[in-house]
Amino acid sequence: MPKQLYIKTYGCQMNVYDSARMAELLAPLGYAPAATPEGADMVILNTCHIREKAAEKVYSELGRLRVLKEEAKATGRQMLVTVAGCVAQAEGQEMLRRAPVVDVLVGPQAYHRLPEMIARATREAGRQLDTDFPPESKFDHLPAARRPGGPAAFLAIQEGCDKFCSFCVVPYTRGAESSRPVAAVLAEARQLAAAGVVELTLLGQNVNAFHGAGPDGAPWGLGRLLRALAAIPGLVRLRYTTSHPRDVDEDLIAAHRDLPAVMPFLHLPVQSGSDRVLEAMNRRHAAADYDRIVERLRQARPDLALSSDFIVGFPGESDADFQATLDLVERTGFAQAYSFKYSARPGTPASALPRQVPEEVKDARLAALQALLQRQQLAFNRASLGRRMAVLFDRRGKHAGQLLGRSPWMQSVHATLPERLFGRLVEVEITGAHAASLAARPLLVAEEALPPTGVVRESPRPQA
Ligand code: SAH
Ligand code: SF4
Ligand code: F3S
Repeated sequence: MPKQLYIKTYGCQMNVYDSARMAELLAPLGYAPAATPEGADMVILNTCHIREKAAEKVYSELGRLRVLKEEAKATGRQMLVTVAGCVAQAEGQEMLRRAPVVDVLVGPQAYHRLPEMIARATREAGRQLDTDFPPESKFDHLPAARRPGGPAAFLAIQEGCDKFCSFCVVPYTRGAESSRPVAAVLAEARQLAAAGVVELTLLGQNVNAFHGAGPDGAPWGLGRLLRALAAIPGLVRLRYTTSHPRDVDEDLIAAHRDLPAVMPFLHLPVQSGSDRVLEAMNRRHAAADYDRIVERLRQARPDLALSSDFIVGFPGESDADFQATLDLVERTGFAQAYSFKYSARPGTPASALPRQVPEEVKDARLAALQALLQRQQLAFNRASLGRRMAVLFDRRGKHAGQLLGRSPWMQSVHATLPERLFGRLVEVEITGAHAASLAARPLLVAEEALPPTGVVRESPRPQA
């Protein structure tokens, strides 16, 4: 009987990737994925520390797990509880004290040591804690064979951050910025392509700071890496996230111009439109720098759609500062975006700043910003009506026969399609546009003429 492994993932895509790697790491030990924590032999919470709410969710989940663990014990079973990710890293011992239910606590750079830690915890050798930033790279100790769950996959190429934005915990929880060697990235990408992956999203906390050692030891930038990845047969869609405006260089812009595989969508967080706030955030760019980068990117790829992250209510943010953010959104035009109320995080410089913004002011600013962003998103989606595009359908919808996918511009698209098109790139026409999704009908040339892999029909490049 395989042992049941339940993993719950919070936070960013890097955590989604790490969870997949942990599952691959534990498979040889006999752990098979389970859909619920009930009856699981091992539960992993892969946690996020970015905002207070994210971190607090973990403790309420641990409360529920305590009950399940006691039930398991009463029936003579052992259920191990592991906490991984950024809360584990940030809280360490403190979490072991606060939550006796936790057996194993492992940070984001040490999870390749999980098998050993689990073995010790199973032998009742006491609770295990490892929040090292080990000198060895975890990537060298993870199984080489990836088991992608579908046609789209994540690939971590860079980790950590040296930017130290004054509000952010990531430099502390993920450690110093480091890039994987080019050969390791290409090997993992080839392996994923061979396993049927057609869309690859490169991940890093600061992915465009990538400077991995090339075959001759000299560093490659992200633009050069994208060129090499685009040459791998089967990988027809490339994305990368998350980028920092400071690290957008000419070669990366050229990659957007030259490589059809690089999708015309970029998540490029700006956080604020006020130079005063950007300075206090230690973002190291002004609003005008962002404008210039966007302009150059759009010159290179006229149909490029942009996404961003915003923080409202950063300490000292005035009405005029907030207005500058609204102005930046107005003149940029975003296809989608995430916006958050500033959350003071322990140990970050901004948490000690005077003039914290009252909660009701943050609420009002968030509502105003989100209303504007939603209007822009709806306008962007409406402009897709009647267009033809290739959509990768990799999820099932709520209704019978409905499949869900992503457009080149990251819009969620639903269509009623035959089941055999699940996991395929299908040429569609957009027939409906909503705030958060598009409806489409397939444009199949002739059903029997479908090629076994690849795009069902080549998408014409839409006008900007
Ligand atoms: N590596 C990514 C950021 C990861 S965090 C990057 O540099 O863009 C994702 C987003 O969470 C950030 O872009 C920011 O908008 C938001 N965020 C980070 N710390 C925050 C905090 N203390 N309060 C509110 N939002 C925060
Ligand atoms: Fe955090 Fe700033 Fe680094 Fe992004 S660039 S991870 S916001 S410190
Ligand atoms: Fe959260 Fe850590 Fe990602 S704090 S956003 S899980 S890097």
